[in-house]
Amino acid sequence: MALVLGIETSCDETAAAVVRRDDDGAVTVLSSIVASQIAEHAPFGGVVPEIAARAHVEIIDAVIAQAMAEAKVGFGDLAAVAATAGPGLVGGVMVGLAAGKAIALARGLPLIAVNHLEGHALSARLAETVDYPFLLLLVSGGHCQLLSVASVGACARLGSTIDDAAGEAFDKIAKTLGLPYPGGPALEKLAVGGDAKRYPLPRALLGRDGFDFSFSGLKTAAARIAEHLTQEDEKRDLAASVQQAIAAQLAERTGRAMVHYARMQEGRGLRFVVAGGVAANGAVREALQQEAAQHGFSFHAPPLKYCTDNAAMIALVGAERLAAGMVSDIDAAARPRWPLDEAAALANPMNKFGRKGAKA
Ligand code: KG4
Ligand code: ZN
Repeated sequence: MALVLGIETSCDETAAAVVRRDDDGAVTVLSSIVASQIAEHAPFGGVVPEIAARAHVEIIDAVIAQAMAEAKVGFGDLAAVAATAGPGLVGGVMVGLAAGKAIALARGLPLIAVNHLEGHALSARLAETVDYPFLLLLVSGGHCQLLSVASVGACARLGSTIDDAAGEAFDKIAKTLGLPYPGGPALEKLAVGGDAKRYPLPRALLGRDGFDFSFSGLKTAAARIAEHLTQEDEKRDLAASVQQAIAAQLAERTGRAMVHYARMQEGRGLRFVVAGGVAANGAVREALQQEAAQHGFSFHAPPLKYCTDNAAMIALVGAERLAAGMVSDIDAAARPRWPLDEAAALANPMNKFGRKGAKA
């Protein structure tokens, strides 16, 4: 049995959690504290890196103390400390990583520097038994990729967005509709009862080979329409149209990947996991669930509290890596960009010269 403290500070949530992993691999979340900075960033309509880093510094100690207290454990009970080391806003990542290193050094504990994306990748395993291997769609504010996950530390990228992430598209379109930050959940609320067929929007890459995504055309088209809307029912219908277009693209590309993955697996152990903040969206979940059923995959999605950023998923990666003997050096560096599948990212870089590209 091992108790692991997880720390997450890569974006706008300061989070700490304690997870217990039994020798048979069973996982129990003993505490999961998430302090959101939404109120601090809302006046600016998005996350301001400087404000985020400062807010993490102010609250990180209290969040860790609360996670330890709720789990009813002391630092002496821990087997390791896991902290997000990237990708993300580097100021924030440094705060959580430094806090993790301090505890590890003071207590002589192993440190595990966790890739935030691996946290999302494994998050479904916090609430139910999802055996390896599985096909994963990771959809969040910064990422949109399809991965084949063989075990902890072994993720192979099948495809990824060539421009914006799906969450980014939700957030930016929501902003043009005058919705508050964060846009995704607000847009989903507005879309209730809307007519998803009223505004035809571009469906990029549909029917094309491969497993990549593209959302920038949809974003621009929706923003152009939004500029001229004044009536509430028009806005509601546009929100519904946008949501359906995003869900349809995610489902179509995932369906293709399912066919490919099933061939790779020779039809055995067909499991599909969707994770990341956008997995909280009902229409997206429903479209993916249908796709899974159609291709003979079991469907798994973490509960909503583990879809968006949290530290339980970071502690889980720490516990699984600890069990596999994969611990980090105490001088592990914060990495603002850190692809989960480094080999694939190097072979087919999304970050082409002259453009920033997707974070991973
Ligand atoms: O995983 P996450 O919390 O942070 C990242 O690592 O990016 O994902 C946040 C993203 C945001 O873009 C947010 O708008 C989106 O997930 N999101 C949603 C919903 N809930 C969160 N998008 C659509 N519908 C939702 N219900
Ligand atoms: Zn995230």
